[in-house]
Amino acid sequence: MIRVLFVCLGNICRSPMAEFILKDLINKKDLSSYISVRSVSTSYETFGQDMHIEAKMKLDEKGIPYKKRKAKRLSKSDYIYSDYIIGMDESNISNIMKIIGDDPKHKVHMLLDFTENPRDIADPWYTGNFSKAYDDILEGCTSLLDSIIKKYKIDLNEQELSKNEIITLIEDKIYQYTQIVPEKVKVSEYLALSSKLLDMKVMISDIINSEWEDEDAIPVLKEYKKTIDEILFRFRPKI
Ligand code: 4NP
Repeated sequence: MIRVLFVCLGNICRSPMAEFILKDLINKKDLSSYISVRSVSTSYETFGQDMHIEAKMKLDEKGIPYKKRKAKRLSKSDYIYSDYIIGMDESNISNIMKIIGDDPKHKVHMLLDFTENPRDIADPWYTGNFSKAYDDILEGCTSLLDSIIKKYKIDLNEQELSKNEIITLIEDKIYQYTQIVPEKVKVSEYLALSSKLLDMKVMISDIINSEWEDEDAIPVLKEYKKTIDEILFRFRPKI
């Protein structure tokens, strides 16, 4: 999961708008299982407040869904739990740095730095211009999502694999795993392998539970789950 954290001064105007705009773009591309989005403030002024009424009105106008929320402040530990920490203007960035202290993994960015025209997003709390804020945030979120898709090589077409294609891939993998000689598997390899096999079991269970019309495939899929258990048992480290 790639975790995006938007940050602004109050967490009631720009960063929650960015949160809901990016979530909407992610949902439209069917990528919500890859990317999670949250937002926080750098100040305590607005702690616990819902999104600004004019920000909600702008999202309503654009047909972007949002939920009731409570403003939260950035904490030092958010650094570990985020892959992208994204401020709206230079002053957000300096406040973020005061809270987190250091950015060894280069997670801190300004939203419009992902566009061809890097600049601050003016605070509509002071300017009153929520239309400009919306347009800038949408431009930034669109570029940010493109950048994430490229960086993590997310294959948009992969989403469209049919259940039959997924099963074929699982069959191939199971066959490959049965060819491995258990005695040659080191503990570290076993741990990596077992995590992949357990992921496959979850995928198989999801297909079985998805009311799939191909009834004949269900017993076969259940057999695959057993085979995976057998592979795990055969490969277990002899301690
Ligand atoms: P935001 O705007 O940083 O875009 O959420 C602000 C909202 C409230 C305050 C400042 C900025 N305030 O000081 O209450």
